[in-house]
Amino acid sequence: MTRPSLDAHIAALDVDDGLESVLTVVARTCAEISRVVAGGALVGAMGASGRMNVQDEEQKKLDVITDDMLTQALLACPAIAGVASEEKDKAQIASNPGGAYLALFDPLDGSSNIDINAPVGTIVSVLKSPSATPVEADFLQPGRRQVAALYAVYGPQTMLVLTTGAGVKGFTLAQDGQWFLTHDAIAISPETREFAINVSNQRHWAEGVQRYVEGLLKGADGPRGKNFNMRWVAAMVADVHRILMRGGVFIYPWDSREPNKPGKLRLMYEGNPMALLVEQAGGKATTDGVQPILDVQPEQLHQRIPVALGSANEIDALAAA
Ligand code: AHG
Ligand code: MN
Ligand code: MN
Repeated sequence: MTRPSLDAHIAALDVDDGLESVLTVVARTCAEISRVVAGGALVGAMGASGRMNVQDEEQKKLDVITDDMLTQALLACPAIAGVASEEKDKAQIASNPGGAYLALFDPLDGSSNIDINAPVGTIVSVLKSPSATPVEADFLQPGRRQVAALYAVYGPQTMLVLTTGAGVKGFTLAQDGQWFLTHDAIAISPETREFAINVSNQRHWAEGVQRYVEGLLKGADGPRGKNFNMRWVAAMVADVHRILMRGGVFIYPWDSREPNKPGKLRLMYEGNPMALLVEQAGGKATTDGVQPILDVQPEQLHQRIPVALGSANEIDALAAA
């Protein structure tokens, strides 16, 4: 059986040439990033960069390297009007006007995993640009308007998981640098016995999340009447990938420590693209069990958002807790 390549899949999509070229550039750059990630210490990709990002997080060398790779590749693509990155304070506008698309990205998700050789990823969101010479406000569109969302996960296999609003497909990177379709019609089962939340923050959560997780932890002896298992990769890409493969629920909730920065994850680079992928796979993606992430009107490029996503029945159970 010959497997369709990602290039063939992109060429067959019902989208314009501009979006096809954006997706092609992102896929090629993710394949290049996977080589740098795999090279590790041999290519000088380990450790801290000595710089801080806009969120006051210490940037790893690989955060900076991957941000530069994606930024340069996308700004060189004529279909791109501008880019925004988790690692840069401000959006960057393409010097050649006329591009129709905006790309927003987390160039390296899970960067605390680099030095322990655990999975990391890249997350990309694509929007139409309202203007050929966009300003920052043009990026602040609700996630529902995304024309594409994808992530690459650099794990035992390198995979790219893509939606353009008509389902979710997964591609695996071959030795020759090409992506081939390996996971057609990815669907999240509504039922699960697996959850992911950083329990070390438990004392800071709101009461609803406290009650919900307490029910999970009581297992067969509690209100849920069944046992649950727990996983936490510390890379949202890898946790969401597990949920797309075998179901589950992932929560990074509102936390009382910094009320002005609700949650840890970023709406534009993590929340929105992952929410589109999860909804397209039949799961639910909310801020709190109820409000869809994709309907949130963004107010700032780097704003944070609480995230609760995954198997539909568990998101409903959280909403009812
Ligand atoms: P990033 O490496 O892009 O800053 O993102 C890390 C995020 C997310 O991927 C992950 O789920 C979460 O941070 C892990 O947070 P903890 O430190 O609470 O484990
Ligand atoms: Mn991230
Ligand atoms: Mn990151």
